[in-house]
Amino acid sequence: MKHKIFTLVLTTLVAALVGCGQKADSAKTAALGKPMTDEPIQPINAANVSNPALVQLGMQLYFDPRLSKSGFISCNSCHNLSMGGTDNLKTSIGHKWNQGPINAPTVLNSSLNVAQFWDGRAADLKEQAGGPIANPGEMGFTHELAVKTLATIPGYVEEFKKVFGTDKITIDEVTKAIAAFEETLVTPNSRFDQWLKGDKNALTAQEVQGYELFKNSGCVACHNGPAVGGNSFQKMGVVEPYKGDSKAEGRAAVTGKDADRFNFKVPTLRNIEMTYPYFHDGEAKTLSQAVEIMGRIQLGRNFSKEENADIVAFLKSLTGDQPSFKLPQLPPSGPDTPSPQPFDAKPVKK
Ligand code: HEC
Ligand code: HEC
Repeated sequence: MKHKIFTLVLTTLVAALVGCGQKADSAKTAALGKPMTDEPIQPINAANVSNPALVQLGMQLYFDPRLSKSGFISCNSCHNLSMGGTDNLKTSIGHKWNQGPINAPTVLNSSLNVAQFWDGRAADLKEQAGGPIANPGEMGFTHELAVKTLATIPGYVEEFKKVFGTDKITIDEVTKAIAAFEETLVTPNSRFDQWLKGDKNALTAQEVQGYELFKNSGCVACHNGPAVGGNSFQKMGVVEPYKGDSKAEGRAAVTGKDADRFNFKVPTLRNIEMTYPYFHDGEAKTLSQAVEIMGRIQLGRNFSKEENADIVAFLKSLTGDQPSFKLPQLPPSGPDTPSPQPFDAKPVKK
């Protein structure tokens, strides 16, 4: 009896405590609220795979270094799926240790981009996938040689036949398969998305505060939609010019218009914690630096240390489920497969 009364008193006490002012705790018991449908950011949808054989072939090609002249560099070399789909380098390293001119954006959620590359020079993923293979500073090959190489690999000949129903491998098929694989590289289910869907406990108070600041200070003018970016070209340096050594001029390289100088595709902020360093020149080493620069040169805001930390905390909640699959096995080369050429041909000894 004594024990019962004690329990009763205790539960009343706890209930009273929860009632007065401890809103966060009471929310915990009713975690699933209404989805937030009026937000400038929407959840990422899971991939919808309609042709698994095509995706599987694309995955193999994505991991296959034989699409490069050196036989050493694959898409995954610079867009490492164990590292947020990037190389985490300031600018990429390509064929013969060539230092590239620009930072590698992530391939994660790239299917949501309005166009591909920092300056949008490729309309879609299929068009994009042909670029690096033939870029002398990246994979250093030609489309013709890449296709010829694949045609000497019996396993691929069989697979292309199965997927496309033809005997002849073409670059069109290669890029189509790679693009189909890339379309599966979406990252749903981030804590922020869980929160958007109504789970009020998915974010900490600091992360919610950071999101409010992200919205109210105007970041969402450019970083919005499911990818939190990727859907427009905007000036780098709206309020204050951006100073850097990079020669990249952004969208002007495509349109030839002076008004497009320093307009870059707004990067996605999904998985941003993993895709350092930041900006087209990779000059911002940390997320905190990137937020400081964005606030100052895009919005004329000088965030306090706390505000900066709040926004960074929010940005880290945008990391979603990373792609997960069985590591693809690549079919072995055939007797006629050209040898890899990682170096220049040695001069012939006289
Ligand atoms: C040597 C490093 C390197 C290799 C290899 C490479 N890429 Fe890239 N990738 C980059 C860089 C750097 C950029 C940005 C170039 C630019 O915008 O001018 C890029 C851009 C992209 C983009 C555009 C993303 C966006 O947000 O605009 C996609 C998609 C992509 N690469 C996919 C691929 C695929 C598929 C392959 C293999 C066929 C590949 N890459 C091979 C370095 C590389
Ligand atoms: C006027 C449009 C605009 C506004 C406003 C804006 N951004 Fe950006 N943001 C961009 C563009 C464009 C880039 C790419 C710039 C570049 O690399 O040259 C970028 C890049 C970034 C990056 C680096 C992404 C990467 O992968 O390299 C972060 C982080 C970022 N913004 C956060 C923010 C935050 C936080 C705010 C608000 C304080 C903000 N941005 C406001 C347009 C904008």
